[in-house]
Amino acid sequence: MNTRARQFGRSTLRLLTGDITRIPVDAIANAANSALAGGVGVDGAIHRAAGPGLMRELDAVRPADGLPAGQAVATGAGDLPAKFVFHAVGPIWRGGKHGEAEALVSCYLSCLRLAEERAARTLSFPSISTGAYGYPVDEAAALALNTVAGYFEQHQADTLIDEVLFVLFDGPTFSAYARALDRRSSVE
Ligand code: APR
Repeated sequence: MNTRARQFGRSTLRLLTGDITRIPVDAIANAANSALAGGVGVDGAIHRAAGPGLMRELDAVRPADGLPAGQAVATGAGDLPAKFVFHAVGPIWRGGKHGEAEALVSCYLSCLRLAEERAARTLSFPSISTGAYGYPVDEAAALALNTVAGYFEQHQADTLIDEVLFVLFDGPTFSAYARALDRRSSVE
């Protein structure tokens, strides 16, 4: 298994390849859709592994007109090796001039906030929006890692999060995130 880790502030940012539904953490982030209707990629894997209770919980919190891109809602985790699932709605790539970067950054910040509110010490992310939603993976990786690293540097005095794991499903995605991590120098 490929893995890389760097410390930012007092927390660790770790990259690994694998299936996010099999990595024990306090909270797992899901790449959901605005309708919170479940799906195929990591959304499908998470619902399959969690069991039907996840959708029942989403039925109770789903906004009538859908969850906007950039936002996330928390549920329990059913049979997953976690306590929570944070269902984040990533942006659909439309060429880069429709607020996609801001929405992607907001997905990660929303999940970090949900983790702090629940005192989650470990949080895992898939590569949000780089599958069905078509976000170019190199750009998405840089935004994702810079957002999490910057958050840890800014909140090193008060964050409760010890470790964020990016669980990447294939080699090319792992390599894109590894390149982005190498480029991100942590400012001491
Ligand atoms: N573990 C980790 N990563 C996974 C897994 C898994 N089990 N399954 C897929 N992935 C990876 C994909 O390879 C991709 O790198 O998650 C990344 C995100 O891809 P998608 O799941 O397609 O998510 P996204 O691009 O955000 O599109 C979201 O797809 O499944 C639907 O309901 C979902 O409509 C929403 C859309």
